[in-house]
Amino acid sequence: MSEPTQPASAAIETVVVDGLGLAKSIRAELAREVAALVEAGRRAPCLAVVLVGDDPASRSYIKGKQRACARIGMESVEHLLPEDTPEPALLELVAKLNADDGVDGILVQLPLPAHISPAAVAEAVDPAKDADALHPSTSGKLLAGTADLISCTPLGVMAILDHHQVPLEGAQAVVIGRSNIVGKPVSLLLQQRNATVTMCHSRTRNLPEICRQADVLVAAVGRPRMVKGDWIKPGAAVMDVGVSEVDGKLVGDVDFEAAQGVASLITPSRRGIGPMTITMLLRNTLHAYRARTNA
Ligand code: GUN
Repeated sequence: MSEPTQPASAAIETVVVDGLGLAKSIRAELAREVAALVEAGRRAPCLAVVLVGDDPASRSYIKGKQRACARIGMESVEHLLPEDTPEPALLELVAKLNADDGVDGILVQLPLPAHISPAAVAEAVDPAKDADALHPSTSGKLLAGTADLISCTPLGVMAILDHHQVPLEGAQAVVIGRSNIVGKPVSLLLQQRNATVTMCHSRTRNLPEICRQADVLVAAVGRPRMVKGDWIKPGAAVMDVGVSEVDGKLVGDVDFEAAQGVASLITPSRRGIGPMTITMLLRNTLHAYRARTNA
C-alpha cells in the first residue's frame, strides 16, 4: 500500500519590494511641495551633510543624499572634514550650522572616527534641525509618541509595510538589532501600531526560534546572510536593513535566495530600504523647514 501523499502546501510567491519605485513616487510628491514653496516666493529647504574622513561607502552615501536633494529642488551643503578632525572642531561646525538660518536639516554621517563620540555629536545638533533624529530629545519624543522627526530608516521600513498593506495590529514583530538609529526606533514605531514586538540582539538565546514566530521580521545587525530560510515563518514580511559587501557583492542580513518561496515580502539589498531612507531624510528636512519657518 502506498503512503498517502501529503497535500502540497500552497506555494508562497515572494514579493520583492521595489524600494526605489516607492521612493520615487514619494519624492515626486516632496518635489511638488518644494516647488509650491518656491513659487510662493520662499527659499528652498536646505540640508547640511557633514562627513569626517573619506570612507568610500560614506562618500557614496552622502553623494546619493545630495543628488536626491537636487532632484526635488532642495538645497544641500556638504562639509568634508579630514579623518583627524578633533571632536571640538566638529562640534564647532555643528554649532555654526545650528546658527545658520539658511540650514534646515543637519546630518553628520556615521560611522565617525573612533576619537569622536557619536553621542556628543548627536547632542550637539539643534533638535529643530535634527533630520537624522538622533538627538536624545528627539528619541525621547519618539518614546513618548510625540515625535515630529523620526529616524529615516525606520520611517522607510514603516512606509514599505504600509504600502504593501502588511497588517501590524496584533502582529508578532521581531526586530534583530538594538541600534539607536534603526533597531530601537523601529521597534517603537511597530509598537505604536499595536504590533507585539520582540527585540533581539547578539546575546539573544534561541534566535532562530524567535524569528520563526515573526509575522514581521526586521533584520538590522549588519551580519551578512545571518537569517537563514528556515528562520522565517512562511508568509512573513521581511525587512532586511543590513547591507554588507561580500566578495564585491552587496548582501543583506537575510539569506535572500533562501527566503524566496517562504517570505511573502522581502526587501532586496539594492533598491530596497536604501532609497527609502534617503527619501525620509528629505521628508524630515522639509518637515523641519516647515516647522522652523511656519511654512
Ligand atoms: N550611515 C549610514 N546610514 C546613516 C544614516 O541614516 N544617518 C547617518 N547619520 N549616518 C548613516
